[in-house]
Amino acid sequence: MPSYSEPKVYISEPDLKVRVRELAAKINAEYGMQEITAICILKGSIVFFTDLLRNLKMPVVCEFLGMSSYGNHTTSTGEVKVTLDLNEPLIGKHVIVIEDIVDTGLTLSYIIDYLKMKKPSSIKTAALLFKPEALKAQGLKIDYIGFEIPNHFVVGYGLDYAEKMRALPYIGIIEQ
Ligand code: IMP
Ligand code: MG
Repeated sequence: MPSYSEPKVYISEPDLKVRVRELAAKINAEYGMQEITAICILKGSIVFFTDLLRNLKMPVVCEFLGMSSYGNHTTSTGEVKVTLDLNEPLIGKHVIVIEDIVDTGLTLSYIIDYLKMKKPSSIKTAALLFKPEALKAQGLKIDYIGFEIPNHFVVGYGLDYAEKMRALPYIGIIEQ
């Protein structure tokens, strides 16, 4: 077990709350009362997903997609696999993919290609955090971005370090 001190607050709980509301307001404005299918990318997006959802006004169908890209490493392996698949067909649906963080972008690119095969009417993407410096996936489009952050490894608000610290109410940086 590595030892680490309490993570330093990087994005506070109140700042997250404000920004998540702003993203939801944008989605509300764009979709109106049209039904959407919101896809939560497990596990990192669970907290962002549920907070965002509670600020959406349209009918929302919730789906969960388990993706694993990191193992217990803190850098991208580029290896992505589906660990839990969707329950319902997406044909004709308006899909919004809810991601915790886009780092290299390889995971989200893979997800978009995978979901396109299921013939939804539209696909948009939301990511709470985006590290532009780490981006490797060419042409990746993120429709709703919470915060652009530098290339730091962050934890909390769903994000883990080796499966730990997902339950922190803020986004923190570990000082090892
Ligand atoms: P990507 O494929 O490199 O964009 O990585 C995306 C996935 O890696 C995210 O969904 C996270 O699960 C994980 N990840 C990337 N950066 C971080 C981080 O700073 N903290 C925790 N998890 C991260
Ligand atoms: Mg993850």
